[in-house]
Amino acid sequence: MSDDPTHVREFFGSRAADWDTRFPDDGPAYAAAVQELGLRPGDAVLDAGCGTGRALTPLRAAVGPSGTVLGADLTPEMLERAVAAGRGGTSGTAALLLTDVGHLPVRDGALDAVFGAGLVSHLAEPVAGLRELARVVRPGGRLALFHPIGRAALAARHGRQITPDDLRAEPRLRPVLAEAGWRLVSYVDENARYLAMAEREA
Ligand SMILES: C[S@@+](CC[C@H](N)C(=O)[O-])C[C@H]1O[C@@H](n2cnc3c(N)ncnc32)[C@H](O)[C@@H]1O
Repeated sequence: MSDDPTHVREFFGSRAADWDTRFPDDGPAYAAAVQELGLRPGDAVLDAGCGTGRALTPLRAAVGPSGTVLGADLTPEMLERAVAAGRGGTSGTAALLLTDVGHLPVRDGALDAVFGAGLVSHLAEPVAGLRELARVVRPGGRLALFHPIGRAALAARHGRQITPDDLRAEPRLRPVLAEAGWRLVSYVDENARYLAMAEREA
């Protein structure tokens, strides 16, 4: 499923208020996925499609006070919840950007890594969106595409089955990433998590 921005905004805008209470036990899974990015103190990282900012606190912990954490999302209600939860605004956790991740106000190669949880299947133009994420990351930098539940378990939760055209399936994702400037370096799709890790090509 890919989505146009208006539909994304409507869909997530109506879910923002109870987003964090729907899955209250996901915190450790987010922290573990962030750890696999291998961030160092002082690094700059973007949470693309940050929503209510569930990854922002572990991202800040990974880069420390000298690092930079940006959170970008196109749904205002999600960012409002992030601020209300103390993960943005003046809290010092992250600077929040109300924007489509396909058009980032960030200079070329400024970031060391991008974290994207539950994002990729909502991109209207996946190659263009992933290429924009590659543009803002330095060569050798990393991209983590994460979900705190695997594809099959998520489909079952929604009463569906996984389909071969799913962008997150490895055979589809690998060439899409390559076209966008990323090399897939690891891929895990198990019940308790989905994590595709890619490296920015030189
Ligand atoms: C499934 S939610 C995940 C939110 C958050 N990452 C989390 O794990 O809780 C997907 C989020 O991506 C945002 N999103 C989808 N497409 C986007 C785009 N093109 N640019 C910016 N944000 C986008 C939605 O507004 C929504 O907040």
